[in-house]
Amino acid sequence: MIPRKLILDVDTGTDDAVAIMLAALHPALDLVGVTVVNGNLPVETCTDNTLRVLDHVGRSDVPVFEGADRPLVRTDFPIPRGSGEQGARYHGETLPIPATRRRKERSTAVEFLVETYRAATEPITLVPVGTLTNIAAALAAEPRLASLVPEVVIMGGGHEIGNVTPAAEFNIWGDPEAAARVLGAGFPKVTLVLLDATHKALVSYSDCERLAALGTPAGMATSEIVRFRIDTHEKWQKMPIAGTAPVHDALCVAFLVDRGILATRRLNVVVETAGTYTLGRTVIDVHRRSGREPNADVAFDADARRFVDLLAETFARSGE
Ligand code: BDR
Ligand code: CA
Repeated sequence: MIPRKLILDVDTGTDDAVAIMLAALHPALDLVGVTVVNGNLPVETCTDNTLRVLDHVGRSDVPVFEGADRPLVRTDFPIPRGSGEQGARYHGETLPIPATRRRKERSTAVEFLVETYRAATEPITLVPVGTLTNIAAALAAEPRLASLVPEVVIMGGGHEIGNVTPAAEFNIWGDPEAAARVLGAGFPKVTLVLLDATHKALVSYSDCERLAALGTPAGMATSEIVRFRIDTHEKWQKMPIAGTAPVHDALCVAFLVDRGILATRRLNVVVETAGTYTLGRTVIDVHRRSGREPNADVAFDADARRFVDLLAETFARSGE
């Protein structure tokens, strides 16, 4: 089996870290590079965290490219430099992983994305799990990008659930103009993984015990990181099942190796960029009222057991 190539665009970040480990270690995946964007934390911190994670699981060979340090258009809102108190609450100051000895690449995220897709001879799936600033900037630099990228899997948006406001999910709210451009760009195959889906794939304290017992760097790091997420969620954003938390970004990577892990519907999605109370909302045409063509496979549901088993199976092998 030829591993599926992918590029992850991250704002690492606790759940981004688990996504990186899964992408770096699963034998069916070939992580070509990681691009980093402002979001959970200032972009320099996200880059440092990304390098730490890759080093920790023995994948220092994966190049890391830093990207946007602020939203595409907005200069003072929502998150010019990380997401402040909320970012630290869910993602800490830095990850509980030893310091890195290496550096980011010299090229920027946009340069890497544009050059890689221009030169690609095999399909490379793009998996953005932060604000969509880097992807929108790459589209501006290379308008053909939408036809060069065969598949995009995005963590973003919510229908029943908002997390940063009642109406909006963080990655879309963090740069609504960028998100609107990406969803309107005409990528041929987009999967949008909503909070509605990630809040179904909840990871528990007992799952953390299982991951820690693997004794591998990835298993133990994921256990510690997810425990931190559960502690935070218990305090600030309780899940329907006590002692659990979503690990949003890793679910997008899991979908690449197990397509049955998400339940999707093909629908039209646009992003609100002007609303007073609804800024950054993904407006999903579930009842087909708009007359607009579907532009995404939208994930509303996920299989928690398959997700946790996939993490445990993958991280059991790491460090061998
Ligand atoms: C998303 O926002 C970030 O805080 C997480 O890393 C995830 O990508 C969830 O709303
Ligand atoms: Ca993220």
